[in-house]
Amino acid sequence: MTRTVLITGAAGGIGAATARRMAASGWSVALLDLDDRVDEVAAEIKSAGGRALAFVGDVTSENDWNDALEQVHVGLGPVDALVSNALATDRVALHEMTLASWQRQLDVNLTGTFLGVRACLADLRRDRRGSIVLVSSVHANFGLPAVPAYAATKAGLTGLTRQLATEYGGEVRVNCLLPGPVLTAQWDGISDADRAASAAQTATGRLGQPDEVAAPIEFLLGDQASFITGTTLVVDGGWSITKNSA
Ligand SMILES: NC(=O)c1ccc[n+]([C@@H]2O[C@H](COP(=O)([O-])OP(=O)(O)OC[C@H]3O[C@@H](n4cnc5c(N)ncnc54)[C@H](O)[C@@H]3O)[C@@H](O)[C@H]2O)c1
Repeated sequence: MTRTVLITGAAGGIGAATARRMAASGWSVALLDLDDRVDEVAAEIKSAGGRALAFVGDVTSENDWNDALEQVHVGLGPVDALVSNALATDRVALHEMTLASWQRQLDVNLTGTFLGVRACLADLRRDRRGSIVLVSSVHANFGLPAVPAYAATKAGLTGLTRQLATEYGGEVRVNCLLPGPVLTAQWDGISDADRAASAAQTATGRLGQPDEVAAPIEFLLGDQASFITGTTLVVDGGWSITKNSA
């Protein structure tokens, strides 16, 4: 029977790549994003023969989650897997950060994940085969300039992963994926020189492509990862394991 995955932040980047990959592997995909370009991603998947349903909504809204789940149940059936991937980030040092900016990043990255997991849990628990991937970041483990709220939320997701994996262990596997530098809209406006400098900080010497993150997400969601829960998987081309020092 076809299984259904719900992916947030699926209008582009890693979320859209995950949706395309899961659909190509035979999953039905529900895509949730603030950006109505999510409709185009769903249309593209359907024209390639996949099953997809797009919902334009905000992960921070309880009403949007209720509406989305209603539509997914009607259109695709219960949710078997969840990828919490939407993000908000502002590059501002803490001493210049407004409360509104701090709060928005916590709302989207952490509270949006809480609301999504809560909305899908009954479905995910029903056959003891549910799985969740929370998309964190290498920022959870390393300090970089001007991303204090983003880093705090991404570290929060690693803790939440262990908590959820403990709480729902026999019913839902919960894992956390920590991407490093991956070429998505997040890199728009970053100069070629700065991109090259970031690529040079990886062991592989390049930035990643969204599908190179989607592939391990698919693995963690599927039955091949049936004994993996509560883990954090770094997908960063070796950014975390190499340093440059004379
Ligand atoms: N690209 C990277 O280098 C990188 C590195 C580390 C971690 N990540 C993580 O990967 C995930 C995906 O990032 P990406 O690079 O693909 O970014 P992206 O900007 O391409 O996609 C993020 C999507 O989230 C959506 N979104 C934002 N706020 C939302 C909300 N309130 N409700 C619903 N949707 C909302 C946006 O519209 C966008 O389509 C994020 O969690 C990000 O933190 C990315």
